[in-house]
Amino acid sequence: MSDQVLNSFTPTVEKEAEKADRKFRYGIIGTGWIAEAHALVLKEMEDVEVVAMADLIPGKAERFAKRYGFDLSKVHFYPSHKEMIDNEQLDGVSVCTYNATHAECTIYALKHGVNVLLEKPFTVTTEEAIEVCKAEKESGKLLTIGFQPRMDRNMQEIKRIVEAGELGKVYYIRIGGGRRRGIPNSTFIEKRTAGIGALGDIGCYALDMVLNAIGYPKPLTVTGYKSAFFGPNPKYNNPTDAKRFNVDDFAAGFIRLDGDIVVDFITSWASHINTPGDTIILGTEGALRIPSTECWNGSVGGQMTLYKDVAGLQTEIKLPLLPELPKGLFYEKVRSFIDACRHNLPAPVPSSQILYNQAIIDGIVKSSELGREIAIEIPEI
Ligand SMILES: NC(=O)c1ccc[n+]([C@@H]2O[C@H](COP(=O)([O-])OP(=O)(O)OC[C@H]3O[C@@H](n4cnc5c(N)ncnc54)[C@H](O)[C@@H]3O)[C@@H](O)[C@H]2O)c1
Repeated sequence: MSDQVLNSFTPTVEKEAEKADRKFRYGIIGTGWIAEAHALVLKEMEDVEVVAMADLIPGKAERFAKRYGFDLSKVHFYPSHKEMIDNEQLDGVSVCTYNATHAECTIYALKHGVNVLLEKPFTVTTEEAIEVCKAEKESGKLLTIGFQPRMDRNMQEIKRIVEAGELGKVYYIRIGGGRRRGIPNSTFIEKRTAGIGALGDIGCYALDMVLNAIGYPKPLTVTGYKSAFFGPNPKYNNPTDAKRFNVDDFAAGFIRLDGDIVVDFITSWASHINTPGDTIILGTEGALRIPSTECWNGSVGGQMTLYKDVAGLQTEIKLPLLPELPKGLFYEKVRSFIDACRHNLPAPVPSSQILYNQAIIDGIVKSSELGREIAIEIPEI
């Protein structure tokens, strides 16, 4: 190696070593509902100091810090992500804003040299997600997407079963889960803030459960449908929220993936059926049934069943339900982000995977609006 190359590496090594010896300087962008979960676990981490918080609503970040017992003399408050990033030396931020500002906050942070833990869903549109991925690549910073069910050992078990070849070649997946009645409120129900409804809130979790298990093949085409028969109807939603409601509360899609795999998808904040059913994965050597939930947290809903022929006998194996991690999924989600930044590890939930998740969600929206199947085009980044 030439001296010039050696010298160009030295400062980075020193910088990383210095970083490991001091606290990780953290900022929270958006101090609404989900920021609470970030704040509570960050407070437990001795090697992290939350030094900055930002929110568009005047006084909201200050009230938030007070409520969760932060030392107000040690936290700086800002009226938006821009002022915060321009004025602080941060190692990482949680982007906890509503979906519509995910892309702009994340791109700004990455471009200014700050690592990002971005709440789910990735963005509202595929185009935004592509711009975020480009900013990530150009910046060399770390971006992870906040899918805490990834930390669930039962979710990880699904991936291990597929990777161990227990199912053979996977060819069909039906994604179940969703709610008979469970429409959220706040900023979730308006296009201006959320962009998308049930699709972005719980549909992204349901997709991630199975796509992660099968290695996130590229989506090729989608036929999508979305509707909103419950959210805007005062018979099924409180009248004030019904008036504001202008996103989807139900969606379905049929998606072709690379490798000749099809995915039959449904998600619902509200309908007249008790449940849209379990998630099933069919393969040439076995099948897996994953009890679905109402998708409040996107994880496995109960004991999974593995179906296989054993020496000619059609057999059902009930898999043990693995216990929750002691500190909870949210702790692990934030911790894995910080550890990845500190030790130069890969992103725990990489944007390159969730870009495909987003392309399916956005594909369902676009196909539904066009009333026909569409091809999913994702450029190399
Ligand atoms: N992982 C989970 O389990 C989980 C659960 C709930 C919500 N979420 C996600 O978290 C995100 C936030 O949801 P929420 O319920 O906390 O929303 P919220 O509306 O309660 O809070 C969002 C806050 O972000 C602020 N904000 C928006 N743009 C900003 C900007 N540019 N700079 C600074 N502040 C800005 C808003 O003023 C608001 O106070 C959503 O994307 C949602 O999908 C994740």
